[in-house]
Amino acid sequence: MTTNFKKLPYDPTKLPRELKKYYISSSKEEQGEMLKALGAKELKDLFSHIPDNVKFDKAPFVTEELGYNDLIAHMEALAAKNNLKTCFIGDGLKNYKVQDIVPYVCDLRGLTTAYTPYQPERSQGTLQTLWIYSSTLSMLTGFEAINASFYERSTALYEAIQTATRLVKGSNTALVCESLYPGDIEVLKTQAKETGLNIITVPTDKDTGITNRDTLHKMATDLGEKLACIVFPQVNNYGNLEDVHSLTDLCSELQVQSIAIFDPMLLATEGLIQPSEFGSQKQGANMIVGEGQHLAIGPNFGGPGLGIFGIRYNDKNKNDIRQTAGRFVGRARDINGKDALCMVLSTREQHIRREKATSNICSNQSFVASAAGAAILARGEDGMTEAALAGRDYALQMAQILTQYKGVNLAFPSTPFYNEFVLELPVKVKDLQAKASKANIQLGVDVSNRLHDGRNLLLLSFFDVHNDEDLEKLENFFAENFEAEENDEFLPEIPEDFLRTTPVGLPNLDVEEIKSFYKKLADLNVSPDDNIYPLGSCTMKYNPYINDWAAGLKGFTDVHPQAPIEDVQGSLEVLYEIQEMFKSITGLPAVTTQPVAGAQGELVGLKLFQGYHRNNGEADTRNIVLIPRSAHGTNPATATMAGFETKTVDGVQYGIVIIEADNRGHINFDQLKAEVAKYNTRIAGVMVTNPNTSGLFETSFKEMADLIHGVGGLVYMDGANMNAIAGWIDLNKMGVDAVHNNLHKTWTIPHGGGGPGDGIVAVSHRLVDYLPGIQVVKKGNFFDVEKAPKSIGSFHRHVGNFAHKVRAYTYIKALGGNGVRDMSGVAVLAARYLYERLKPIYPSLPENCENETRMHEFILTISKETFERIEKGGTPKAQAIAKIGKLFLDFGLHAPTVAFPEVYGLMIEPTESYSKAELDRFVEVVKAINGLINETPHVLTTAPHFTPVKKVDEVDANKNLTFMEDLKHLPHLYHNIIEPTVLSNMNIKEICVEIQKAHQKCVEA
Ligand SMILES: Cc1ncc(COP(=O)(O)O)c(C=O)c1O
Repeated sequence: MTTNFKKLPYDPTKLPRELKKYYISSSKEEQGEMLKALGAKELKDLFSHIPDNVKFDKAPFVTEELGYNDLIAHMEALAAKNNLKTCFIGDGLKNYKVQDIVPYVCDLRGLTTAYTPYQPERSQGTLQTLWIYSSTLSMLTGFEAINASFYERSTALYEAIQTATRLVKGSNTALVCESLYPGDIEVLKTQAKETGLNIITVPTDKDTGITNRDTLHKMATDLGEKLACIVFPQVNNYGNLEDVHSLTDLCSELQVQSIAIFDPMLLATEGLIQPSEFGSQKQGANMIVGEGQHLAIGPNFGGPGLGIFGIRYNDKNKNDIRQTAGRFVGRARDINGKDALCMVLSTREQHIRREKATSNICSNQSFVASAAGAAILARGEDGMTEAALAGRDYALQMAQILTQYKGVNLAFPSTPFYNEFVLELPVKVKDLQAKASKANIQLGVDVSNRLHDGRNLLLLSFFDVHNDEDLEKLENFFAENFEAEENDEFLPEIPEDFLRTTPVGLPNLDVEEIKSFYKKLADLNVSPDDNIYPLGSCTMKYNPYINDWAAGLKGFTDVHPQAPIEDVQGSLEVLYEIQEMFKSITGLPAVTTQPVAGAQGELVGLKLFQGYHRNNGEADTRNIVLIPRSAHGTNPATATMAGFETKTVDGVQYGIVIIEADNRGHINFDQLKAEVAKYNTRIAGVMVTNPNTSGLFETSFKEMADLIHGVGGLVYMDGANMNAIAGWIDLNKMGVDAVHNNLHKTWTIPHGGGGPGDGIVAVSHRLVDYLPGIQVVKKGNFFDVEKAPKSIGSFHRHVGNFAHKVRAYTYIKALGGNGVRDMSGVAVLAARYLYERLKPIYPSLPENCENETRMHEFILTISKETFERIEKGGTPKAQAIAKIGKLFLDFGLHAPTVAFPEVYGLMIEPTESYSKAELDRFVEVVKAINGLINETPHVLTTAPHFTPVKKVDEVDANKNLTFMEDLKHLPHLYHNIIEPTVLSNMNIKEICVEIQKAHQKCVEA
């Protein structure tokens, strides 16, 4: 039976949750006991308050369920369907050697499975990895502030452009060099539609293959004050080096923002000039954007990517950063003055500013950033240079050799290139590629259609993944297909001032030392492997190891998203099957797998709404979006980002209209009806989370949807809480037009300390024709790709976070329809069981709704008397809930979600991953916390007590912002005072005693 287990790098029999059916830890008996405690007989009873007309009659099919052993064989077979050939494709995504440190770090569950570091005391591990990322990127680029990542290059660029429009008052236009990767430009145009932002492309000069300064100058001056920024690449989509100095100077002269696109790998010592020194005065670009996936991982069919973003933060410029989006990690101190790290500048973000936030981004690509930081350290100063020079040397050699064939010439003979160049061929590129394919070569990218000058243009890319054999293979292939011809033309030289003159200064460290450092960092976090991770709304459940193993199969990781379709059949099959799975799970007729996070799914949803209304001639008139007050901050931020700006003009309301909750904690239907009557055909749509963020199912969702459809509006469901309803509720019956599924919640892909997430969107028949990206279709046994007939465009430079699709696919394959239904059934059971046991001790929120039926999560609060005791104990009311959250850390747990959606709430979501014994212990812990806050409330003032750093002074960190250090060695290491795993097994009373002792010690110190 266990034969296939040997293929795995871990022993599943030694992992307590890995081989549990559907990864549910409680036994049927335990479930029976919990059901009994709730007065229910079967899981079905937990859904009896939901109207039958929105339910599936039985478990949807979803997919054929596979046992663990079969799943291993199945995933191997799927990965083997991709053809890995000698690949000279780079273009939109580069391809460097994956460093040993990366798979090592990817196996550190404390880092991969942890949540966004909102609790800095329990997240110093993640924060350190991000600090290393931003510091090393700062060293490479010369930029003082690098954020903790965006999704990938194109979305990072969109955010940079938005920042520019905020910095240049009265502006609304970006001039974007057409020499950027075309997939990036498509994303910019898609996102900009209906927002008032103009994206204008600047043509590439056909002779030089770079941007012509005079053309650009004219276009820029014609735009006048409308111009916010000019976007240009350092290495463009022909591999040519743009004149970054003259382009930066032009921006300085025009007083617009310069946004430079760069490749971090090429900024190594002896590589290209760093963007902080662009310009004749070395004034530097204003912002930088780059792709960093290849710093860390292989092509993975296009994702997860890593959108690098940087901005200046120095004595001359301390304010621009406040207009940016995304998370930054900053230097901090704890209450004892010990060095620490925390997230800073979050007052710009969606969870605080909602519709006024700088962006809707929430989950980013945190883990890819962490892995990139580790990989940069592992390469070190010398290794980075070697990697950059390897590609350069190969490119020079091959440019020299391949132009010795008749009719094969450099397409831009006088323009310098670095490690990629374009050949002009005497034959159609497609034909040559087809021949190359037979010789087991993926022959670069056909760029003939980019310049429209009638030439046959082939882009070839060289990296350190190549070796001499690969080059020989390429040379032989050309020798077989072209006649030799003497060519004594010189290759263009790179001007001195395009090259870096100062070393980066990275340390050269021993890889074993780095591994041991990251292992220790992982131990500073907590993981849902070990204990309940009660973050409400975040669905921190067990992430099966097998998912990561499958995603790491070479057949999946090494395949380039621009490889020929016949070579990527395995990847396309995964995407096709996952489309089918999510159609079945949601009941909706179509799916896009492109969105890479919940928030991006929301944006895709609203852009789809706009596409639909535009098609009906109503793009301008439908300008109202209804959103409940309890919505996650991403919902209003998304609406703004999509173009529904909230404002009142001449007494007329535009943008978001807030719907309040009724006295049962549900959508106030009377208000909704009134708003629908008032705004009628001006309603673009509604965005509703169901179950809502109070853990209540919106039982009148269908009536609401009917009402909205009645006036021609559309219905978005935020599907963050699908873990409560998947397999039970048919979203089609409920009237949903678009819904995102956070794969990093319900569908078990690891959170990665803040991302990458994933946000597959399913849509109704109304929106099928407008889907973005590609649709994978099955033609016999062949998987092909199509674009929807009225597609709204694209939201990712390639197909999205492909590796996460493999993870979710592997998970869902282990579940089938019955497993999906059990998964959410038991998740609801666990939450309701906890709620039932904690309800007598803690009041709940929303107020006066304690008897409303909860789904997968619930919100606790404390009584007026307890608040008073806590205040007397030295903690102001405004801080009490956050401080109680810190007490959870003292028991080896992560904190629940604090202060959202209720300011005084602790939102708890246990998921289906834990046994009854674990749930019972959790109840005892929460009871013990109740004891502590009532009897010894002063302990809150010094909580948490056993974490590597004490309470972090986040206010001070925001006042004294520091975003990087020059890393000369590994940062100082922290240690837990008591390990969370030890705390998880300690006697609870004993922990209470230790807390009081630790408090006393703190006070005395
Ligand atoms: C209800 C809800 N909606 C949307 C989001 C945003 O999802 P993401 O972080 O994947 O962008 C979250 C994330 O926590 C959420 O809880």
